[in-house]
Amino acid sequence: MAQTSKFTPDESLEMFFEPTLLSPEVKKALHADLHIRPLASSDYRRGHLDVLSVLTVVSDPGEDAWKTQFFAMRSAHQTYYPIVIVDKASDRIVGVGCVFIERKFLRGLGSVGHIEDIAVDKSQQGKKLGLRIIQALTGLSEGCGCYKTILNCSDANIPFYQKCGFERKENEMAKYA
Ligand code: ACO
Repeated sequence: MAQTSKFTPDESLEMFFEPTLLSPEVKKALHADLHIRPLASSDYRRGHLDVLSVLTVVSDPGEDAWKTQFFAMRSAHQTYYPIVIVDKASDRIVGVGCVFIERKFLRGLGSVGHIEDIAVDKSQQGKKLGLRIIQALTGLSEGCGCYKTILNCSDANIPFYQKCGFERKENEMAKYA
């Protein structure tokens, strides 16, 4: 498909991690107007925080502070795997998510993948973008050798995660500062 001049190809971006780690099946399953890739250092300008604000309160730290956080997280090698879905026509982000790899001393020095901060732009919800993000993150987690992939969610989102192949297990506890 011919691409508009707005779309920034992967080669021109400074990525959080190697894009070839993303599942080719998930890439293929996406509509041709969309592109899934690792978060890039210029994604502040593509509406990364706007999409996250669908999930929760987001205070805008400004581009410089956003970038400092990007590079600080990236320097923790093989730990964070943030991804985005981009609408090619506008070069804007329409979906986000992250898997964080926790290394353990138990289970033969095993690892657990924690899925965090999933959000799909309101105009794009119900088009399987959430499902593709979860499939991509689970693939990354399993590719890192994690023996399980877990997440916390509201009761309202349980049916969504069940559709993504997750099952209900135990409880979440929280203590806010
Ligand atoms: N209740 C019941 N079913 C649902 C729900 C829901 N709340 N949301 C999605 N589904 C179903 C869909 O109908 C679809 O079913 P189908 O395969 O039978 O057609 C399937 O789940 C896949 O849905 P998607 O189209 O992929 O969902 P979407 O792209 O809209 O993304 C998401 C779902 C991420 C929850 C989105 O609605 C969103 O961004 N919500 C606001 C932010 C949020 O709550 N994020 C999750 C926080 S939890 C965390 O981050 C770990």
